[in-house]
Amino acid sequence: MTETADPLVLFMPSGKRGRFPVGTTVLEAARSLGVYVESVCGGRATCGRCQIQVQEGHFAKHKISSSLDHISPVGARERRYAEVRTIPEGRRLSCSVQILGDLVVDVPQDTVVNAQVIRKAATDRLFDRNPAIQLCYVEVDEPDMHKPLGDLDRLNVMLEKDWGWKDILISQHLLPDVQKILRKGNWGVTAAIHRDLEGARPNLIALWPGLHNEAYGIACDIGSTTIAMHLVSLPSGRVIASSGTSNPQIRFGEDLMSRVSYVMMNPDGRDAMTKAVRQAVNELTVQVCHESGVDPNDILDAVFVANPIMHHLFLGIDPTELGQAPFALAVSGAVHTWSREIDLAINHGARVYLLPCIAGHVGADAAGATLSEGPHRQDKMMLLVDVGTNAEIVLGNRDRVVAASSPTGPAFEGAEISCGQRAAPGAIERVRIDPQTLEPKFRVIGVDHWSDEEGFAEEAEKTGITGICGSAIIEVVAEMFLSGIISEDGVVDGDMAARSPRILASGRTFSYLLHDGEQRITVTQNDVRAIQLAKAALYAGIKLLMEKQGVDTVDTIRFAGAFGSFIDPKYAMVLGLIPDCDLSEVKAVGNAAGTGALMALLNRDYRREIEETVRRIEKIETALEPKFQEHFVYAMALPNKVDSFPQLATVVTLPARKVPADGGEPGGRRRRRGRD
Ligand code: FES
Repeated sequence: MTETADPLVLFMPSGKRGRFPVGTTVLEAARSLGVYVESVCGGRATCGRCQIQVQEGHFAKHKISSSLDHISPVGARERRYAEVRTIPEGRRLSCSVQILGDLVVDVPQDTVVNAQVIRKAATDRLFDRNPAIQLCYVEVDEPDMHKPLGDLDRLNVMLEKDWGWKDILISQHLLPDVQKILRKGNWGVTAAIHRDLEGARPNLIALWPGLHNEAYGIACDIGSTTIAMHLVSLPSGRVIASSGTSNPQIRFGEDLMSRVSYVMMNPDGRDAMTKAVRQAVNELTVQVCHESGVDPNDILDAVFVANPIMHHLFLGIDPTELGQAPFALAVSGAVHTWSREIDLAINHGARVYLLPCIAGHVGADAAGATLSEGPHRQDKMMLLVDVGTNAEIVLGNRDRVVAASSPTGPAFEGAEISCGQRAAPGAIERVRIDPQTLEPKFRVIGVDHWSDEEGFAEEAEKTGITGICGSAIIEVVAEMFLSGIISEDGVVDGDMAARSPRILASGRTFSYLLHDGEQRITVTQNDVRAIQLAKAALYAGIKLLMEKQGVDTVDTIRFAGAFGSFIDPKYAMVLGLIPDCDLSEVKAVGNAAGTGALMALLNRDYRREIEETVRRIEKIETALEPKFQEHFVYAMALPNKVDSFPQLATVVTLPARKVPADGGEPGGRRRRRGRD
């Protein structure tokens, strides 16, 4: 048979294809093409991890006629496996299936051999898998007086013979137990091998007697206020539990800078905060394991993302340098370490990987979001914004990526707002204002109806109407602007008091009465100012990056983080948080940083991708850019003093700009002579 006459095998969903001699196993074919098919038992048909499904039919697009007749029938080994464990209908063990003709082979993305309950999918996206951990079952020769090779050495021989692992590094903590484990397993053991960097020595990190089928990983985003974690089955790639907890460091300081100050003022401050965050991570790990019936000892890999200060505190590094220029990171590259080095309550030999930080204010969390959304993978100019107390901003495409952070402060999260509160039942989350009557209607978290609908009052009795959360603060200020209650400079117009009793005088300024009940909920002049300051900081940062890229518009905008998931992009644009853009191109992407961590956990190629990308990203320090202040001043106006929003204007009627009496530009901008 000539080489070209060999059967053609196409693997889905990867689309990888190749020709293989008749008799090659499907597992071998997958391996040689780099298609990830899990195997723990090394092709002994005992682990059941290598399941595939052959598709039948003529696939005209691929010019392949695939049939069950083109594979070897179920043999003794597969029958034996099926007697002990169930195998879903249509599935075969690829290690035992020989190729006899052309095939289209489906590699199921949901191979969950031990039927873990899937609690919550972190993301609907499927990622190619190439984890840093591999479970390898071997049968080791029994000791022989005539061949005085140690037990561990004979284990190494088999790991090389069966799995090709050469020059294995043994985690020292395993040495005292190796002999016991080998005997307990009657010389059959499962070794967990870690290899992340290509060319690095493989590391034996865990060993179990007999066949051990389970390996888990955690992907964790350590935010200043919240820590979010996914527990993932490494062989199947499925997220089996996700949970979050608040960051206990809040008791040392609400925002990042106050936590840095705490470290500076208290000799044991760093230690206390490191302990607190590690303890929270450990408690969260126990929680996700408990929810899904997983033994924390089976967690062998952990990937973390965090902003630079959280990143440093988690690793036990003093973050003082990050509190002052030049905002020097102790380490900016990816960190590879061991669970035991940072007191994680998972397998003693588990490995830990932290994504690289982009800059002193743009952390591994922004790197995670970048990996997830991939501005560097596309032609479009993508703006990626993660709004927190510090907004992290990334702008770019496959040619060039720039990044910065902007000190937005906590206003977007409801802090600094007189009636602000976190998003919880009772909080107002949506607001509309009638431009004629200036009467509002709103929605409250935990209540199904709008406030002007029947049934609202009864339902709201249960939750109360307690404050305004972040998403509604954006909407109410935007609606106040659209209905003329505030001017483009953000001043609550006292003349409106003649038109509506909702405009209240408070000292020399005015407020808008959003709700008058048990709790009076008003939007004050100071609240509007706080939002203006926050949004101006964000927009000025974005403008700096747009200037660096030499663009006037962006093609697509991604809002990462919890805040982005709740705000309506239209209102964000009305306020001028973000530049003008086709609204259909503005999307909230949830915890993109956490998704990036998940990707890096499931596939070490993503680690290399983000390490390379971060090296290429140009960092802009907003505090050092002379034009930041100018952009900031223009961005104080709604939506902006100088920038226009033509795409937004097609869907929203923006109030006409006032032209000042001196004939200058709206808002008093005058052209600087002889300079620009
Ligand atoms: Fe273990 Fe096929 S590789 S069953």
